[in-house]
Amino acid sequence: MTSSTTSIVVDHVDKDFTLRYHRTAKQVAVALMKGHDVTNTFKALEDVSFTVEQGESIGLMGLNGSGKSTLLKLVNGVMRPDAGSVLTRGRIAGLIATGAGFHPQLTGRENVFLNAAILGMTEKETLRKFDAIVEFADIGRFLETPVGNYSSGMFARLGFAVAVHVDSDIFLADEVLAVGDRPFKKKCLEKMQEIRDSGRTLFYVSHAAGSVRRMCDRVIVLEGGRVGFDGDVDEGIKYLKYDDNNPENEPDEQDLEDEEEGSDI
Ligand SMILES: Nc1ncnc2c1ncn2[C@@H]1O[C@H](COP(=O)(O)OP(=O)(O)OP(=O)(O)O)[C@@H](O)[C@H]1O
Ligand SMILES: [Mg+2]
Repeated sequence: MTSSTTSIVVDHVDKDFTLRYHRTAKQVAVALMKGHDVTNTFKALEDVSFTVEQGESIGLMGLNGSGKSTLLKLVNGVMRPDAGSVLTRGRIAGLIATGAGFHPQLTGRENVFLNAAILGMTEKETLRKFDAIVEFADIGRFLETPVGNYSSGMFARLGFAVAVHVDSDIFLADEVLAVGDRPFKKKCLEKMQEIRDSGRTLFYVSHAAGSVRRMCDRVIVLEGGRVGFDGDVDEGIKYLKYDDNNPENEPDEQDLEDEEEGSDI
């Protein structure tokens, strides 16, 4: 079914979550007596199918809650689909949740080793890349302090720095740029371009039309857990009505804000 260059196959995937409406035992009992629902399952992803070839660079877009992070978690293997299947080829790295794989009481330095190990790097490999990781994260003396006290930006910097230094075949990036400052965003975008140019598969979740244009050769738009669009980048951005921004704007997570509200159908 898969060719030798296929990187990711997502086949008729569903992911269900259970919502709980009541918190205490008493509230649950009262709700049950009244015949109200206390739980409700809903599909965060429904019948999602697509295939990605090795080296493709996909912009995964869609409104908040449309299922992007859930899809990335399935591709990454931290979650399993309730129906369908997800196949991936090769080593996967990336940043799918800020702080994932970090221990709050360990220092930045210790966490680099922990995180790298979780991502499948050997100690030798980590040692060899350590200086580059630290230089990329650029968090100064905070490297020696517990990450529990880091700002969200510092957290993202360290996590991203480790992730980009893993030799992977697939790189997943979920909103990594959302919390970084401008110089760091620029550095991340450059690094992701480098990853893309090296022939690795890139899966990039973003609301920023500008950086998706620069970075991706295909856009998948999720809508309420279903694939609403899959194809050309500009068409995908238009489909989402994210194309009001000026093309000469610097790629910026803010570059799609405002204006959109008025442009309903
Ligand atoms: N563990 C969970 N339990 C219950 N519901 C969940 C869980 N994880 C995600 N959801 C729900 O699944 C839906 C999709 O969430 P997801 O995080 O994938 O959205 P997203 O597209 O990444 O959104 P955003 O742009 O805000 O990051 C949301 O309605 C969310 O509330
Ligand atoms: Mg998300």
